[in-house]
Amino acid sequence: MIVAHTLQEFLQSRSQLQNHSVALVPTMGALHEGHIAVIKKAKELSHYCIVTIFVNQLQFDQLDDYLRYPKTEENDIRLLEKNQVDLVWLPKAHDIYSKNFCTRIVIEGPALNWEGAVRKGHFSGVATLVNRLFSLIKPTIACFGEKDWQQLQVIKRMVEDLNIPVTIFGVPIVREKNGLAKSSRNKFLTPDEHEKASLLYKTLQNSYKKIQNNQNISKVLEEAVQTLESEGFKVDYYAAVNSNTMTELRKWCQDGRLIAAAKLGSVRLIDNM
Ligand code: PAF
Repeated sequence: MIVAHTLQEFLQSRSQLQNHSVALVPTMGALHEGHIAVIKKAKELSHYCIVTIFVNQLQFDQLDDYLRYPKTEENDIRLLEKNQVDLVWLPKAHDIYSKNFCTRIVIEGPALNWEGAVRKGHFSGVATLVNRLFSLIKPTIACFGEKDWQQLQVIKRMVEDLNIPVTIFGVPIVREKNGLAKSSRNKFLTPDEHEKASLLYKTLQNSYKKIQNNQNISKVLEEAVQTLESEGFKVDYYAAVNSNTMTELRKWCQDGRLIAAAKLGSVRLIDNM
């Protein structure tokens, strides 16, 4: 595996991966089994696999969240090597955003609500970075975890709208034994919170069953929020949406998806089903 730090090192190594398909897996590091599942899928779909590790300040709406984002670089590199990634790039901010950089991608539609409403500027930050990575790396495909379901829809929208020649794939959520979706931020949960956090997934499962049994959606969602709040979660949103457009559903349909975000202690959890 080649490890590149500077843009120059990266571009030189990238030029050696020619004449075959290249998959990109963008990450912010602090890698876990969820990332590994994405990398495995990327390797299955492409000849070469490139992983980037970059904590993108542009997508954080809270400075403290950015500053405390876990950094486990040595461990990440070991894990990537073990999983036979071809090239890992750990750029510095100035490799991605030059001194005079002042172009931002702003996406409406699927980016407007939910995470987009709670975390102002978040999807603009994600899209600006991902677009920049696509133009520097020129991958054939790019793979993203489905835990950030809305992010996946936003990136698909951007690729289609801007005619970017990259095919986007989503990879299913990997869960801990208790059902909690794997996330780099789970390490901030206390042992008690870690156990309790699985209630988010269990509540989604329960809501899904009720909806399948034709119960009224608004009532099901209301009950779910009550259950979570009575257990100490602070719910940002808990909604039924169209999987692609992310618009709210009043009546369930085949393309329906349940999405949720809630804070437990100091940790913000998101999940979907
Ligand atoms: O999902 C993430 O880890 C990040 O939002 C991404 C796609 C790597 C962009 O920084």
